[in-house]
Amino acid sequence: MLLCGEAGIGKSRIARSLCDHLAEERYQTIQFQCSPYHTNTALYPAATFLRQAAGPASQDSTQAQLNKLNALVLECGIEKPRHGVIAGGSALDPRRPSGPPLTVSSETRKDMTLEATGALSRTAGWCCPVLFILEDAHWLDPTTRDLLTRIIGRIRQMRVLLLITFRPDFKPVWAEYSHVTSLTLSRLPRRQSAELVVAMTGGKALPSEVQQAILAKADGVPLYIETLTENVLGSGLLSEENDSFTLTCPLKGLPIPDSLQALLMERVDRLGSAKEIVQTGAAIGREFTYELLQATVEVSDSELRNALDLFVASGYVSRGRDTSCDLPL
Ligand SMILES: Nc1ncnc2c1ncn2[C@@H]1O[C@H](COP(=O)(O)OP(=O)(O)OP(=O)(O)O)[C@@H](O)[C@H]1O
Ligand SMILES: [Mg+2]
Repeated sequence: MLLCGEAGIGKSRIARSLCDHLAEERYQTIQFQCSPYHTNTALYPAATFLRQAAGPASQDSTQAQLNKLNALVLECGIEKPRHGVIAGGSALDPRRPSGPPLTVSSETRKDMTLEATGALSRTAGWCCPVLFILEDAHWLDPTTRDLLTRIIGRIRQMRVLLLITFRPDFKPVWAEYSHVTSLTLSRLPRRQSAELVVAMTGGKALPSEVQQAILAKADGVPLYIETLTENVLGSGLLSEENDSFTLTCPLKGLPIPDSLQALLMERVDRLGSAKEIVQTGAAIGREFTYELLQATVEVSDSELRNALDLFVASGYVSRGRDTSCDLPL
């Protein structure tokens, strides 16, 4: 199952609630968490999972960590226990001066890790079904991607549900497989966005202009709705009555909290050279016309049109009914 959606749309929440729904069932979990800091660390999520599953604590000696890994691979019935130990060993803390006694090349270690993790997901399914969650595949390292391709190729013979979450800039090749289902999460409609705000205020109504400002800025992304609402509740702008909030001073626009600012800048940075154009549009205002933008930026007409097509395709800008464009945040 491929679960796609922009940052903060609710992919991890769905994965968590799937686990909650299965709380009474007998199943095993394999959880791979990709990291933006390890997109080039071969098998980072696999090795981290093996280490956590084996349970070595950071204060354990290297030998104790290896013993725990050994026990895990034996318990899982991995045919070649040494492979599993080496796989997990590659996740042992690299800063330790007395690292595990690994006498194989990094290439061999990669192969062994592929084999051990593949074996783990296969053998785990023998005793009970497996829920295999891979979070944030847009940060996958190439080797773990190979591993997944191997697993997905064989998954029909296994009692494994594999759920992969990722943001839209990642285009998984596995979407083509007939046994793979793809689901894209879209933004919340206005009514559900308003329900989320009410849930956060404990049922108390916000002043309508505040509520409108939150809904307009958040544009249906739950993370933005939550963060903007939290921000406004903690801003001192509101006084709390019995069943509502009132404004203590006129609202002069909602500030974008730092936590969102960083997330938004990361998205804008991905636009490369087109970044300046979208920033100029944003400086013009929430809505801008093509003509005004064209007169402001110093790029050719075709470059500008390509950039706007890119913004529309990536959801930064939506085309209005007339010639103006609308910038979500
Ligand atoms: N349908 C929903 N109703 C209420 N809250 C939601 C909903 N969807 C998401 N949220 C909340 O929005 C926030 C962001 O959701 P989540 O972390 O699942 O996003 P994500 O898609 O995994 O983002 P990322 O790509 O950054 O990992 C969370 O606090 C989550 O609880
Ligand atoms: Mg997430």
